[in-house]
Amino acid sequence: MKMIIDTDPGIDDAMAILYAAAHPGIELLGLTTVFGNVTARQATRNALHLVERAGLDIPVAQGENKPLVNGPIEPSHHVHGPDGFGEVTSIDARGTKEEEGAAAFLVRIARQHRGELVLCPVGPMTNIAKAMLLDPEFAENLAGIVFMGGALDVPGNVTPHAEANAYHDPHALDLVLKSGAAIRMIGLDVTNRVLLDAADFDTLAQINPAHGPFLQEMSRFYLAFYAARGQAGCGLHDPLTVMAAVMPDLLGFIRTPVEAVLEGAEGGATRRATHRPTIEVATACEPELIKELFFAPFRCVPA
Ligand code: BDR
Ligand code: CA
Repeated sequence: MKMIIDTDPGIDDAMAILYAAAHPGIELLGLTTVFGNVTARQATRNALHLVERAGLDIPVAQGENKPLVNGPIEPSHHVHGPDGFGEVTSIDARGTKEEEGAAAFLVRIARQHRGELVLCPVGPMTNIAKAMLLDPEFAENLAGIVFMGGALDVPGNVTPHAEANAYHDPHALDLVLKSGAAIRMIGLDVTNRVLLDAADFDTLAQINPAHGPFLQEMSRFYLAFYAARGQAGCGLHDPLTVMAAVMPDLLGFIRTPVEAVLEGAEGGATRRATHRPTIEVATACEPELIKELFFAPFRCVPA
């Protein structure tokens, strides 16, 4: 499967990207970066580091550093640490980003691989909205969009109503939800039901000496954040999204139009709508099976 991950790495973003790199069924054509957990600049640095660490030779195109309409937002340092990788602050990146910006890159690659490219946005939707504004055919050139964001029938994680990626750019998300693209939403309805705890990161470190200890080290900060909120592990948000893309039968879906609330106390919420395209929203999952399947590609990567 040809895939681009649009990302704001981010601890669970790093897990998702290393999972995708290790998965034999995924051909990563590039990463595009966006503000969110960190600034777009830091996201690019982190993405370049992950690409090098995974031994990939793929482009990294930097995208937007602020939402489509709203003012700039503060990076989520309290969730992902000062540089996005928890307490791991000494990462290096020798590679350089593409000269082309993320939106132009997405438009070009989608055209080049018409009908074949699966896009996995796991940060705010800004770059994807920009690509749609740039090229009216962008949505139909894609095989589909499988995105991490939103919370349909469960509470949010940044406000009682809103999930972080949706909250950080509701206008962009709403534009994408209206586009008519083939969309699958992987929101908190499922991602917060698949939790990894310290023992799971021990397992990861054991089965994958190349990346496991790195992910384990950064997970400590993430787990502490969740523990402080009374949650016994971190949600498998971004990795589950990549998994759902490459294993389309992994989750159960309902079909409904969805809109993003643009402002007010419920700004960033995602809710059922009418008079707009139907999308698929993940609502059912088997957490233990998903965890096993998450570990699987990491077991096969040589040290
Ligand atoms: C989403 O927000 C970010 O903090 C995570 O990387 C994930 O994409 C979860 O709400
Ligand atoms: Ca993310």
